Amino acid sequence: MKIIIINGPNLNLLGKREPTIYGNASFEEYFNSLKKQYPNIQLEYFQSNIEGELIDKMHEVGFDYHGIILNAAAYTHTSVGIGDAVKAIEPPVVEVHISNVYAREEFRQHSYISPNAAGVIVGFGLKGYQLALESFIK
Ligand code: DQA
Repeated sequence: MKIIIINGPNLNLLGKREPTIYGNASFEEYFNSLKKQYPNIQLEYFQSNIEGELIDKMHEVGFDYHGIILNAAAYTHTSVGIGDAVKAIEPPVVEVHISNVYAREEFRQHSYISPNAAGVIVGFGLKGYQLALESFIK
C-alpha cells in the first residue's frame, strides 16, 4: 500500500515553530518513527511552502497511490486550487491539522479541502498523522 503525507507551508519548521501550539518534535523525527511502526506500508513524505508544488505533487501521486494524508496548513483556508486538486484526483484524502483549528482564530475554521476529504482529523498533535494512516488500514 502506497500512502503519502503532504505537508504545506511552514510545516518544515515543526519543532521550532510556535512549540506551544505545534510541539517540540521535528516532522522528520516523527516521520521516521511512523515508518518504523508501519514497515508494510510504503510511506512517503513531501513538504512544500509553494502552493503550485503541492498541487503538482497531488497530480503526480493522484492516480497511483492508495491514499493521501494532507495538511495543507495555511492554504487549507485560502486555496481553491488545492481544494480543486483534492476533487480531481482518485485516492481518498484525509485532511489533518495538528492544532485544533476550531479553538483558534475564526479564519482557520473554514477549509477548502474538507468538503472533498474522506475525513478530517483535527487537534491531536502529530498523532493525527498516525490516526489518518490507520484509517487506510482495513
Ligand atoms: C495547521 C493549522 C493551520 O491553520 C495553520 O495555518 C498551519 C498548521 C495545523 O496543522 O494545525 O500552518 O494546518
